[in-house]
Amino acid sequence: MECRGPLAIARWLLLLLLLLLLPPHSHQGLVLRQIPSTQRIQDPPAMHLGNGPGQEPVSIMTFNLTKITKTSSSFEFRTWDPEGVIFYGDTNPKDDWFVLGLRDGRPEIQLHNHWAQLTVGAGPRLDDGRWHQVEVKILGDSVLLGVDGEEVLRLRQVSGPLVKKSQPIMRIALGGLLFPVSSLRLPLVPALDACLRQDNWLDQQAQTSVSAPTSLRSCAIESQPGIFFPPGTHAEFSLQDIPQPHAEPWAFSLELEIQLAAGSGHLLALGTPENPSWLSLHLQNQERPLLPPFAW
Ligand SMILES: *[C@@H]1O[C@H](CO)[C@@H](O)[C@H](O)[C@H]1NC(C)=O
Repeated sequence: MECRGPLAIARWLLLLLLLLLLPPHSHQGLVLRQIPSTQRIQDPPAMHLGNGPGQEPVSIMTFNLTKITKTSSSFEFRTWDPEGVIFYGDTNPKDDWFVLGLRDGRPEIQLHNHWAQLTVGAGPRLDDGRWHQVEVKILGDSVLLGVDGEEVLRLRQVSGPLVKKSQPIMRIALGGLLFPVSSLRLPLVPALDACLRQDNWLDQQAQTSVSAPTSLRSCAIESQPGIFFPPGTHAEFSLQDIPQPHAEPWAFSLELEIQLAAGSGHLLALGTPENPSWLSLHLQNQERPLLPPFAW
């Protein structure tokens, strides 16, 4: 996996003031709900599981199974995203792998090994933007899933002794898979817009390597409804609910506070059902921005 350099973080306060000249008979306009974006440093620091448009993991660890004495992993995790991969683990991507993800907001385990092949969903919805504590434990032949201190799933007869694995190295990948998406038992969109903290993977003593996290996004932002917007989706605002301007030309303002790493892409578009994109905002090459390059 390619290792990216330190994040180049640009922080802007962007204020756009638009004057719209509309035909006299029309009082249409658009107002975006303003989302206050107070910044707060998380304590302890959290890692974003997103790796840009790619679906590669943000970090990969390896463990020497012959040295493992602790067979549980735990972490806290926060998301508004209902679908994606939290972590993937394997000793062999062909016939000994495990995935914990979210589908419809609930935990899902997919596993494939010598003893069992299964896909199972369990537990409460976790895509509510709050921190949840998750624990995955291998206990004898069982795999246990705990959420917020409660056991929500116990899969029996699905595992064998770790030390007897033919390949004694276990890999754990965060936020992505180490095989093609098509190898999953049940297709899932792997990218997960989520933050992870206080993570503790298997046995530290047995860890043989860890790659530096390559997440492109920051978790140092307060989580609130509206912060997650799946790519390609849109929100609609009814003009009836918005006070109509009395003066013409009238104005609306849009305030965005952006914290981005390297990269470029579409930030947003505004429009009406008839004209879906009469204003669009792109960001280009965030590495050395001085002025926001935007296009109307
Ligand atoms: C794993 O640990 C065992 C016991 O210390 C050692 O003999 C073996 O070489 C290690 N394997 C790898 C691949 O690091």
